Amino acid sequence: MSETPKTADLIVFGGTGDLSMRKLLPALYHCDRDGLLAPGTRIIAMSRGGLDDADFRGKVDAEVRSSVPVDDAGDRGVWQRFLDRLHHVTIDISGEDPTGWQRLGALLAGHEERDRVFYLASPPMTFGPFCREANRAGLVTPASRVVLEKPLGRDLASARHINDEVGEIFHERQIFRIDHYLGKETVQNLLVLRFANAFLEPIWNSLWIDHVQITVAETVGTPGRRGYYDHAGALRDMVQNHLLQLLCLVAMEPPARNDRESIRDEKVKVLESLRPITGSEVDRFTVRGQYTAGESGGVQVPGYLDEPDGTPPTEASHRVETFAAIRAEVKNWRWAGVPFYLRTGKRMPYRCSEIVIQFKDVPHSIFPGSAPNRLVLRLQPSEGIRLHIMAKEPGAGEVALKPVPLSLSFAETFSGRVPDAYERLLMDVLAGNPTLFMRRDEVEAAWRWIDPILREWESQSMLPEPYPAGTSGPAGAHELVDRSGRAWHEEDPA
Ligand SMILES: NC(=O)c1ccc[n+]([C@@H]2O[C@H](COP(=O)([O-])OP(=O)(O)OC[C@H]3O[C@@H](n4cnc5c(N)ncnc54)[C@H](OP(=O)(O)O)[C@@H]3O)[C@@H](O)[C@H]2O)c1
Repeated sequence: MSETPKTADLIVFGGTGDLSMRKLLPALYHCDRDGLLAPGTRIIAMSRGGLDDADFRGKVDAEVRSSVPVDDAGDRGVWQRFLDRLHHVTIDISGEDPTGWQRLGALLAGHEERDRVFYLASPPMTFGPFCREANRAGLVTPASRVVLEKPLGRDLASARHINDEVGEIFHERQIFRIDHYLGKETVQNLLVLRFANAFLEPIWNSLWIDHVQITVAETVGTPGRRGYYDHAGALRDMVQNHLLQLLCLVAMEPPARNDRESIRDEKVKVLESLRPITGSEVDRFTVRGQYTAGESGGVQVPGYLDEPDGTPPTEASHRVETFAAIRAEVKNWRWAGVPFYLRTGKRMPYRCSEIVIQFKDVPHSIFPGSAPNRLVLRLQPSEGIRLHIMAKEPGAGEVALKPVPLSLSFAETFSGRVPDAYERLLMDVLAGNPTLFMRRDEVEAAWRWIDPILREWESQSMLPEPYPAGTSGPAGAHELVDRSGRAWHEEDPA
């Protein structure tokens, strides 16, 4: 983690919402418990909720405490210290009433020298108005930063619009666009694995690697969230950000330094090297699906259109994809001819985020039954790295081969708790380190590649291919890899 940050004011717009209560506040508590929040650091939630500080502390005590360890007397002391850091300011960003800004101004007054972080845990259309109003209220100081949650727009044009609006108030170096996947231990370990070990880099290319698979599979569906999800879909919600970020880290060239710009420069080069998928190629290289009723986790679950939601499905509900798979290519010297298969879906058979590097077979096999090596980097659950190698099964007679894994489990190897990605990222924001955050050109390059796929899907009369809940996606996703004699890596991490 970064060095201990200085005393700061962290203002969380949307501080009573799901993201704050489930992720940000538990992460901040853990940081506090680990001694990473400087004395005097305050967390100021903003919402329309009409809460005062005591109400908000009571809400956090009731809703967050059970999800974090407050085991012994020492922890109880930390918990109380954490609660004392919390404040709440009522504001309606869409209203004209300036009193919310005045209350926030009064709370911040006299602390202008502190690092001031505005964390926008709110829908993207609020980003521009929030920044303008905060600036109009005189609250944006030279030591201010702003954190933007995903999604950053719905396409290239809207992402540019948001970036322009926020950029009118904040300098690019003050803007932290978060993708929490980049805070995961395994993701950072991918960089260490590649660039702090000598043995992999010489074979990390098209001469030795057959293909790469990146999978983010969820078992959950979207009950009660159709209103949001109808207008998002798997491509916008997962591929444009998380999966492309992982692809960048696998494919990037070794950066000159581990600093704020070098890594991001290399990631942008990867995004700009992605072969565009346009027009009729979209059907050949992409697949979209939508789950129907099926069995998930041993229980019968409804299809996407029948999820309990309070409102009937619309035209958009029928068209939205809950599964997406893409065969991508990075057109450069290192990766020429190596497919990168990306897939993500809801109501898949098991929850798993992983990167699979499938090596080529040995050039000349002297043993029957050999299989190519495979490196599996698991991001969740149970973060770890597995290298599948061929070994001889013990016994006399003919040599029998068996693929066996060399495994590194983070939980077993490094004792103690694996910190949540948000802990790392929040501490990096407080310390002013943007390395693990997305730069404007990165986000826009990702949208530039995604946009033609979105446009083609949206122009088609064909609906997403159905797949029963609890299965690994539509038939088309299997055909996408079958076509070249490959198969998806299917290994239940449980
Ligand atoms: N939940 C997640 O795990 C997650 C993960 C990644 C990204 N995100 C993104 O983060 C954002 C927030 O997600 P969420 O799930 O936390 O949403 P949520 O549960 O609906 O919370 C929204 C928060 O914003 C406040 N708010 C909404 N409109 C407001 C307004 N006009 N003025 C002031 N406050 C307002 C709400 O409080 P009041 O209603 O009381 O005003 C609440 O605190 C979304 O853009 C989402 O896509 C969420």
